Amino acid sequence: MKILITGMYGQLVTDIIKQLNYTDHDIFAFDRNGLDVADHENLKKTFDLVEPDIFIQGASYHVVEDIENNIDKAVKVNISSLHTIAKLCQENDCLLINFSTNYVFDGDHYSEDCGINENVIPNPLNIYGITKYAGEQVVEKYCEKHINFRVAGLFGITGSRAKKGTNFPINIIKEIKEQKIIKAVSDQLMNITYTLDAAKAIVDIINRYSENKKVIDNFSKDKNIIRIVENGKSFKYGTYHLTNTGMLTWYDLAKFICDYYNYHKIEAIENKNFYSNIKRPKFSALDCSKIQENFGITLQTWQSGIIRFINEYKNKVNPKDKVDFIFPTNFSVSANTSASYYNKDDYPPSTKFSISDDC
Ligand SMILES: NC(=O)c1ccc[n+]([C@@H]2O[C@H](COP(=O)([O-])OP(=O)(O)OC[C@H]3O[C@@H](n4cnc5c(N)ncnc54)[C@H](OP(=O)(O)O)[C@@H]3O)[C@@H](O)[C@H]2O)c1
Repeated sequence: MKILITGMYGQLVTDIIKQLNYTDHDIFAFDRNGLDVADHENLKKTFDLVEPDIFIQGASYHVVEDIENNIDKAVKVNISSLHTIAKLCQENDCLLINFSTNYVFDGDHYSEDCGINENVIPNPLNIYGITKYAGEQVVEKYCEKHINFRVAGLFGITGSRAKKGTNFPINIIKEIKEQKIIKAVSDQLMNITYTLDAAKAIVDIINRYSENKKVIDNFSKDKNIIRIVENGKSFKYGTYHLTNTGMLTWYDLAKFICDYYNYHKIEAIENKNFYSNIKRPKFSALDCSKIQENFGITLQTWQSGIIRFINEYKNKVNPKDKVDFIFPTNFSVSANTSASYYNKDDYPPSTKFSISDDC
């Protein structure tokens, strides 16, 4: 499959590309200089040039505070670009993968036992959430073959590009090193998503789509294929929640990291005392049972994710530390162009998901 990717240096996309490197798909990844998604002409040209089977919209503008004063930019990146992309994908039988957020929900009227499932109608509280929900709807309306993955509290070693290469756990680790008093919000219940786990799940789903498409494309050529299709190799498009298992607050997360480092200078604060006065949902934990039901995927607990992240992060900062993460050896990025092409011969990735207790 040919896969066209925007926002190639993004935190989540970086890990998706690393995982795709274990597959035999052909990757055409672009950074903002190579393909600015606000430039619709260039989007069309690039699409026509690549003729992708799958489009991954990694480009996103998601700094919650900034967006309140930069609505035009947020609309261009998070909504308008998706309008063009979704139509291109629809016209060219291309699967569109897009990312959204738990901030599409307002945090009211939900059961706090299981989290919010995909049937709940969003009602975002801030402009960021509004633009991401609108983006989801554009994808859904204009492109039949789509997946909107809603993730939450993303963390990976690359750090979020939009947040200058940081994320919450990276900031906490830095504050511990600087011996600062850590203050973290304790009245927002949510989930977090380790980019490495999410990337493995997403690539697993891409591989299934690819297999499924091959079956369908060969349908008319081989009668035996009918039996395979009947045996249930269906692929379900739509919106999917994708987070590590378990609900937590930012304080729980900070405390867990502090405990790991045996650090005690930490205080719980309320959201109203947080530096930002932008509204955030008090409850935005996502129920991820749909992705389990349709794809058999459940990500490990958030505690497991954080411990593996710390190991991975230690290895990045000090490569001599022992870690459990293996970087693919044949991964390369061309230096003289922002569009990069990867060829792989190492398949499949070691994708393993643990099945945790049902909610
Ligand atoms: N981070 C979180 O905590 C979080 C939580 C919930 C949901 N999400 C969602 O998850 C997704 C991935 O988040 P992330 O943290 O991995 O993102 P990220 O690291 O900030 O990456 C976003 C990428 O988008 C690129 N970009 C921005 N404007 C662009 C444009 N006009 N044209 C082309 N590329 C553009 C950026 O390019 P540059 O490298 O040039 O800046 C960057 O590489 C997003 O859709 C986000 O809304 C994130």
